[in-house]
Amino acid sequence: MSKQFDVIVIGGGPGGYIAAIRAAQLGFNVACIDEWKNAKGGPALGGTCTNVGCIPSKALLQSSEHYEQAGHHFADHGIEVKGLSLDMAKMIGRKDTVVKQNNEGVLYLFKKNKVTFFHGRGSFVASKDGVYDIRVAGTAEEVISAKHIIVATGSNARTLAGTPFDEETILSNDGALRMTDVPKKLGLIGSGVIGLEMGSVWRRLGADVTVLEGLPTFLGAVDQQIAKEAHKAFTKQGLKIELGVKVGEIKTGKKGVSVAYTNAKGEALSLDVDKLIISIGRVANTIGLAPEAVGLKLDERGAIVVDGDCKTNLPDVWAIGDVVRGPMLAHKAEEEGVAVAERIAGQHGHVNFNTIPWVIYTNPEIAWVGQTEEQLKAAGRAYKAGTFPFLANGRARALGDTTGMVKMLADAATDEILGVHIVGPMASELIAECVVAMEFRASSEDIARVCHAHPSLSEATKEAALAVDKRTLNF
Ligand code: FAD
Ligand code: NAI
Repeated sequence: MSKQFDVIVIGGGPGGYIAAIRAAQLGFNVACIDEWKNAKGGPALGGTCTNVGCIPSKALLQSSEHYEQAGHHFADHGIEVKGLSLDMAKMIGRKDTVVKQNNEGVLYLFKKNKVTFFHGRGSFVASKDGVYDIRVAGTAEEVISAKHIIVATGSNARTLAGTPFDEETILSNDGALRMTDVPKKLGLIGSGVIGLEMGSVWRRLGADVTVLEGLPTFLGAVDQQIAKEAHKAFTKQGLKIELGVKVGEIKTGKKGVSVAYTNAKGEALSLDVDKLIISIGRVANTIGLAPEAVGLKLDERGAIVVDGDCKTNLPDVWAIGDVVRGPMLAHKAEEEGVAVAERIAGQHGHVNFNTIPWVIYTNPEIAWVGQTEEQLKAAGRAYKAGTFPFLANGRARALGDTTGMVKMLADAATDEILGVHIVGPMASELIAECVVAMEFRASSEDIARVCHAHPSLSEATKEAALAVDKRTLNF
């Protein structure tokens, strides 16, 4: 007889492993299946986020920022650096260590919470009398069963038609995070989140970086006042971003890659680079899951169809994270994982999609929550806006990092905060206060009346709130 569990989670990324832990906390007998292998063939829990996403990218963003600071900005503080050099192997090695620590952290959490881990690929076999059989194909093969299934199989990098990733010259996020030499010339297709983060890493380390973006607008989903400020900063740093291009034939040869494209003016050009990163979005992953074995419904783009509560078309089968609709973010996947585990336990798990923060970890960082000014205008909503520049913030001046601003948008009649948009130092941390405020449906006056530590970057948030009422104190 197959091993029986109450809940089987397929996928051990941030969605799956958090769902497994929460379900175990709620008293269920839980199994989690994940197929990711480390370099030695062993398990590497944590999914895309831990292995080739959030964690390694932030490790390299940090290392490359130190290099940039030492090379270009320490002198402003009176610190002379002579003989600055780069040990790429060490930098990549450090990143790998950070990844490993996180892999091991998840394994530890599974042991602590008594989640049974299976290393291998999980696929649907059949369902009978309300119980699902799942095949685990790892070093050995076995079938395990449960009443409740949570699918958290994540996503893969989207390929450009006719240009498969070889991870040597044509790179996805995977290859982009493990180059051991800095390419002289680096091309990127797509100036979205990965394009800007990876472009920043390799530019800081010395590559001549050009980003080709199909849309005519830079960061179209971002509040455009913020996006313009960020574009100015990236261009000043030397990141070349061409908007409104149409990418044509891509040829690889001994000398690298040649990308034929038409620019916004309609001129036919080519970009010749040593390596090319393609970052044009990600697609839901159900490879090997065998959804057809039980009739699990996918949409036309291959994502698992779910309702607002992450319920699929099958009873007691749930799906969360990148494999379903909504933003492809680790914290969104985690929130859905917790909510689904609680729903299985008969509780009222809830995810507020209006208060999911976004962060782009460039320098300056870009972070936002809620609606942009463009969205409010399009919806015909009457609003008030307040901005405060970091240039007028004492802590930012002391840091030597005064690029950007905090922008707050509030309802014209009720003053409820509708969105906060930040470009500048530590935007990733500053946004948390705004998420909490919006979650509690605070007004801009609430933030304006809260005591913020001095000198701190968070005072810029308070001042932006004051600016909504046209009464900044320091600008
Ligand atoms: P995943 O993390 O993709 O995990 C899915 C897991 O399921 C994988 O381990 C996979 O091997 C496993 N799996 C798939 N199919 C099967 C199967 N049949 N059987 C067994 N196992 C299976 N998000 C942020 O919020 N912040 C960031 O800073 C950030 N940075 C990113 C940087 C990069 C370069 C990339 C690519 C992504 C980044 N993301 C970031 C997005 C984030 O990584 C994803 O949103 C998140 O990982 C989604 O979690 P998930 O659990 O849904 O899927
Ligand atoms: P993205 O959706 O952020 O950006 C893709 C960009 O490529 C868009 O600007 C799009 O217009 C452009 N594009 C698409 N097809 C094109 C083509 N044929 N030619 C030229 N340009 C084209 O996707 P990206 O950067 O690949 O990242 C995928 C996802 O991973 C993100 O949307 C995000 O959900 C997640 N992520 C999150 C991070 C974070 O939270 N800090 C960091 C990195 C990734």
